[in-house]
Amino acid sequence: MRVTVNQIREMKAKGEKISCLTAYDYVTAKIVDEAGIPLILVGDSLGMVVLGYESTIPVTIGEMLHHTKAVTRGAKQAMVIGDMPFMTYHLSVEQALSNATRFIQEAGAQAVKLEGGVTVAEKIKRLVECGIPVMGHIGLTPQSVHQFGGYKVQGRTPEAATRLLEDAKAVDEAGAFSVVLETVPAPLAALITEKISIPTIGIGAGIGCDGQVQVINDILGSYTDFVPKHAKQYVKLTDIVRQAVDQFHSEVIAGTFPTEKQSFAMDESILVELKAK
Ligand code: KIV
Repeated sequence: MRVTVNQIREMKAKGEKISCLTAYDYVTAKIVDEAGIPLILVGDSLGMVVLGYESTIPVTIGEMLHHTKAVTRGAKQAMVIGDMPFMTYHLSVEQALSNATRFIQEAGAQAVKLEGGVTVAEKIKRLVECGIPVMGHIGLTPQSVHQFGGYKVQGRTPEAATRLLEDAKAVDEAGAFSVVLETVPAPLAALITEKISIPTIGIGAGIGCDGQVQVINDILGSYTDFVPKHAKQYVKLTDIVRQAVDQFHSEVIAGTFPTEKQSFAMDESILVELKAK
């Protein structure tokens, strides 16, 4: 049975922690799904960690749908959340609705995520009214990196903290089933978690959130251009991959790959006949 929004809400009520990882392809989605992680986010972080852009801003809806389709083919139990990229929901409620529909109908996602609080509440409300579950995202919202002037901790001043609390409440009241809190001081994230009814999913927001999300490449050590402070590398995949690649390269050059084990034989008599022709 696929994870539902009600189950995610119930997890908060029961005090059960919620884990969420990003995935951008079929194979990874399958691993994450089989591990029992209830939420898989096809984040627009794919722009940086998969496509090599400098930020998430150039990511298109076409790219997001392409990767979301791969993930939904691999995930059988987890709820797959498609991240709506820059400017695909800002222009109007109609634009948000029509693009969110593509994630659900074309790509097979069960929910969408959009960045912003008070400013996108009206859009969240309409999507939810139309049957599209929404995950909110406040704090350091990477699509606004130019407005923030960099990837900075959000909510440190009294005004900014108050705004963040208002954003969280707006997302909750609009009907989102959860909200990501990104790069927010831990005590503020804990306070927001207490004050709103929906689960908070933190990334760089401390232990007081209802759940945690990470970019999978960060925990696997497979994207090393930039390693955020909030990421814990459980393995250094780039080192392991590099070792395998170096070994393959050396063996090809040395003529020791492939061996008989990786080769296919044929009937000797056919070969003899062919040689005689
Ligand atoms: O794009 C993404 O991966 C995200 C997570 C960091 C929450 O938005």
